[in-house]
Amino acid sequence: MAKETHKAGNDVPPVIRDMRGSDYDAVVDLWRLSGLKYSGSGRDSREAVLTQLTRPSSIFFVAEREGRIVAAALCTHDGRKGWINRLAVLPKCQQMGMGGMMVREAERRFRELGLEIYSCLIMADNERSQQMFAHLGYARQDEVVYYSKRTRDDA
Ligand SMILES: CC(C)(COP(=O)(O)OP(=O)(O)OC[C@H]1O[C@@H](n2cnc3c(N)ncnc32)[C@H](O)[C@@H]1OP(=O)(O)O)[C@@H](O)C(=O)NCCC(=O)NCCS
Repeated sequence: MAKETHKAGNDVPPVIRDMRGSDYDAVVDLWRLSGLKYSGSGRDSREAVLTQLTRPSSIFFVAEREGRIVAAALCTHDGRKGWINRLAVLPKCQQMGMGGMMVREAERRFRELGLEIYSCLIMADNERSQQMFAHLGYARQDEVVYYSKRTRDDA
């Protein structure tokens, strides 16, 4: 259900709502404009995202202002933790509280599911994102090293 928000940004407050399949192109544009790398032939492809959208573990939502998607987050949960993935804010709307608003919305949705740990993986050179998450109460876990295995290079 759409939810009015009263912080973040210029004159008209953005509205947060669930992502729909028809938002895919706008969300990819947002990733491109914000400089977020994406795997267009793998997990971020249209087909993959449309499939993910239907899964109960997906908590994908966008912020829309005057008909334009200005922020998005493709969150997921694994039944134990909530994961904030692919958070992006349109460059001209950054540093106005919108990233924080999206993180708080993710946390609200995780809480509703009874989840008590909220996580994200951030590239080591993404200082802005690291600073934001630290400010929002997230602790850097230097004792953890991320390992992953891919079935193909562009998954
Ligand atoms: C990272 C990103 C989402 C941040 O969005 P944003 O709208 O600029 O962030 P905000 O202005 O809401 O800042 C978030 C919070 O962190 C705080 N913050 C940001 N930078 C800070 C800093 N250097 N020191 C202390 N606090 C900081 C803000 O004050 C704000 O807190 P508040 O909500 O309590 O006021 C945005 O820069 C982006 O889309 N970047 C490109 C894509 C990307 O890197 N995504 C993250 C992948 S992990």
